[in-house]
Amino acid sequence: MTEKRSSVHGEWSSGLIFILAATGSAVGLGNLWRFPYLVGENGGSAFIILYLACILLVGLPIMIAEVTIGRKGRRSPINSLRLVARDEGISQKWSLIGWMGVIAGFLILSFYSVVGGWSLFYTFEALKGGFSGISSDAASSLFEGLVASPGSVLVWHTVFMVILFGIVAAGVKRGLQRAVTLLMPLLFLLLVGLVLYGMTTEGFGEAMTFLATPDFSVIDASVFLKALGQAFFTLSLGMGAIMVYGAYLPQENSIPVSTGWIVGMDTLTALLAGLAIFPIVFTVGMEPGEGPGLVFVTLPIVFGEIPLGLLLGIVFFVLLSVAAITSGMSLLEPSVAYLTESTGGSRVKSAAIIAFLIWLLGAACGLSLNIWSGVTLLPEKSIFDSVEYVSSNILLPLGGLFMAFFVGWMMRTHTVASELDTHHHHNLFLLWLYVTRFVAPAAVLFIFLNATGLLAF
Ligand code: PFF
Ligand code: NA
Repeated sequence: MTEKRSSVHGEWSSGLIFILAATGSAVGLGNLWRFPYLVGENGGSAFIILYLACILLVGLPIMIAEVTIGRKGRRSPINSLRLVARDEGISQKWSLIGWMGVIAGFLILSFYSVVGGWSLFYTFEALKGGFSGISSDAASSLFEGLVASPGSVLVWHTVFMVILFGIVAAGVKRGLQRAVTLLMPLLFLLLVGLVLYGMTTEGFGEAMTFLATPDFSVIDASVFLKALGQAFFTLSLGMGAIMVYGAYLPQENSIPVSTGWIVGMDTLTALLAGLAIFPIVFTVGMEPGEGPGLVFVTLPIVFGEIPLGLLLGIVFFVLLSVAAITSGMSLLEPSVAYLTESTGGSRVKSAAIIAFLIWLLGAACGLSLNIWSGVTLLPEKSIFDSVEYVSSNILLPLGGLFMAFFVGWMMRTHTVASELDTHHHHNLFLLWLYVTRFVAPAAVLFIFLNATGLLAF
């Protein structure tokens, strides 16, 4: 048996910190912005049921596989895959999965930072009292004005990237760990506060009815695929973010137990976000099927109307910003870890270089919403939309598929079993192995083929 390696970047102080950090990665715009509007548009709880099935059958097993590679390799995703492949006596070309992840991380963070910048802008708007009595036209033009202004988009995107740079440059213990121990409790406090408030509103009953009455008539193959894609994005799977966090997990902590917590917390947060947002939306008589504007256009109107709304607006957008920051950190870390490993140079320098390159690409995404809106990369898709499409719909599912394949089929079963420490739960291990080998790859292949149009419904 090969010796256990230790991380060159430092380790989390405890398994609990790993859970906090990975939950920080998972909980983000995906939960608070994307999940509620997808539910609103796709049949309420019918969508939630499909989504939960995908989380359990695809998300959890792939997360276990991803953390296993990370903790075995103890390096950036590229080098972890290379080292694990070497230990297992198979081709080191498997490190290409890590390269794909680095590219996906670059692409995702570039547009994620633009939207993260919007949440910072809205936080300041809320603090200034800008939502007070805002009409729906004024709320729409606030959002459209922001997006149409190259200056504002660039400024807030820059602020967001500088914050991420500061945290990641400070290192695993002094930067990432400190940020999550401070921010994650705040995040849960704010979210619980919002839910409790939602329960006191008159819209709560209507929201519960909406959430408890599944509309199965809207479910078709494309809705199923959206649920599967959302499961992937929300759990930060397929690009190495969770893998690199796993590389810093102390050896004595259990991977299945930790990942169980992370998946549980992410799912709970998405559901709580729904519970917090829908009652507020119903209270002012708005529709849940608003689409992507639900958070940025609908909520400010609501906050401008209801009692305590101005305070709630601040709470909500601080929550959104914090969630976006802890996710953004995990998108930056894999490539910063890799550059630090390959140059042997300082982490600060690597973080500066990578953050700058992502900032550039992000600037292009931001400008493609206004002055460069005519520029297309993929046919009929702006730079922003092309980058989002390629990363979320192609690179993440493909990355997850390869990772599941690598752990399920290429690694020796006893290596995997020893890393997962499953002697006492042999049947659970076999169940996981079966799902990782067959069920998860089949499901992912299915979304991938559909997303690329090779298989149409
Ligand atoms: N999971 C994050 C969210 O739900 O907002 C987004 C994300 C973070 C995706 C990190 C991918 C990733 F590697
Ligand atoms: Na998420």
